[in-house]
Amino acid sequence: METTLNTIPELFRINEPLIQDDYLINGQILSWEGPTADVFSTISSTEEYAPTLLGKVPNMAEEEALRALDAAVSAYDKGQGVWPTMRVSDRIECIERFVSIMETKRDEVVKLLMWEIGKSLNDSKKEFDRTIDYIHDTIEDYKNLDRDSAKFEKNDGVYAHIRRGPLGVVLCLGPYNYPLNETFCLLIPAIIMGNTAVFKPAKHGVLLIAPLIEAFKESFPKGVVNIVFGRGRAIAGPIMKTGKVDVLALIGNSLSANALQTQHPKSNRLRLVLGLEAKNPAIVLPDADLDLAISECISGALSFNGQRCTALKVIYVHADVVDTFNKKFAAAVDSLKFGNPWDPEVNLTPLPEPGKPAYIQELIDDAVEKGAKILNPRGGEHSENYIWPAVLYPVNKNMRVYSEEQFGPVIPILSFNDIQEPLDDMAESNYGQQVSLFGSDVFALAPLIDTLANLVCRVNLNSSCQRGPDVYPFTGRKDSAVATLSVHDALRSFSIRTFVASKDTELNKEILEKLL
Ligand code: G3H
Repeated sequence: METTLNTIPELFRINEPLIQDDYLINGQILSWEGPTADVFSTISSTEEYAPTLLGKVPNMAEEEALRALDAAVSAYDKGQGVWPTMRVSDRIECIERFVSIMETKRDEVVKLLMWEIGKSLNDSKKEFDRTIDYIHDTIEDYKNLDRDSAKFEKNDGVYAHIRRGPLGVVLCLGPYNYPLNETFCLLIPAIIMGNTAVFKPAKHGVLLIAPLIEAFKESFPKGVVNIVFGRGRAIAGPIMKTGKVDVLALIGNSLSANALQTQHPKSNRLRLVLGLEAKNPAIVLPDADLDLAISECISGALSFNGQRCTALKVIYVHADVVDTFNKKFAAAVDSLKFGNPWDPEVNLTPLPEPGKPAYIQELIDDAVEKGAKILNPRGGEHSENYIWPAVLYPVNKNMRVYSEEQFGPVIPILSFNDIQEPLDDMAESNYGQQVSLFGSDVFALAPLIDTLANLVCRVNLNSSCQRGPDVYPFTGRKDSAVATLSVHDALRSFSIRTFVASKDTELNKEILEKLL
């Protein structure tokens, strides 16, 4: 894939690297003078392929991490801080100010999303707009929550005023595939509930936070949001070891989540809000509409090159239809369009992780060595920043691609005769996020849907897996998630029910009347 400067629309050219030396601690934007890390895009700007230097970010360590943590701890101030005690309407006003400044940064953020993670122009715009909608919806849901908690209830002679209170200090870490959306889907509900936060952007998708630092500073009291840059190990580890974090909010990998949790000395203090990896299967029954199943499996397995936790990562096809499915599916994969994110109608785009093509190649080699075939002629074709999706069949349980979350362009297919086979595999799996079920016989589907709902958290009927719409619960079993996210659920995940109880006495009545 050749990219020369004049094939890049002028609007999207990187004219000079962005030196991002700002960071935000305790309400102050500070200028970093320590070591920095280069941020490269795997997309080339020159005729001869070379990664493009996009900019530099601070490479901070323990000292700054702990300063950011101290600022968040002081802003919470044992529950007495300005933020956790602020009136709901005032907190909402801060979030509204933030989102109105954020809206003005759309073009900058979208451009960086394309360069940093290779997301197509359309999907980058969608990520930005979806995040804005999520923030507005969160504000509305929070207003409802607050209205509902204005009531008193009385049981057995005891009045109760039940509300939801903040948990404390949140360490917020987002993923590279949705560096804006998924991070803000953690951060915004966390702070709107009165928590304070330390936020470290993902390794890829880091520069795009730069245009928003000022908005955070302008919108919130000091110390409510603190933004630091650096490697997870150098920043998050030391923060967890202090035992001062009340919530670990992380979208990423279960290994990193486990490593961070175990560093926290007080495990019962630490609440977890985790969106982790998955190996969502598609199950194609013999009576499925094959054309529909194929087009949904293509988008499910290959949207954003399969770099989605919700991506279809293994496909089970009934033996009666597997040959037809495979033939059409392989042809459909090879007809996709690869290009740079700004190219029109592009389906496949460069992989942001330089090591990803080699990793996917390892999975292919291992599968082929153990008996799988590459069904599509272009499968495994390399370019400098891509590897063409290989459709592998027949895959078995001894192959790495069967059990590892590939998070990239390779599609393992298995066939089955008895539906119990995929069900057993799902029960055995470490993951339990979603499944896609393709079929049309209601008598076969009904009991299957009930069983599948007990193995995963969302059964998608004749459609690919996905997180949205964001009002629906997004969660998983086993190593796929802890807690539930959605506009509605996230407010609950980042808070705890607290209440004032008062016996029905004259003295209490008098106090409560005065209080109200
Ligand atoms: O990486 C996991 C994302 O939550 C997937 O979201 O289904 O909207 O692409 P999506």
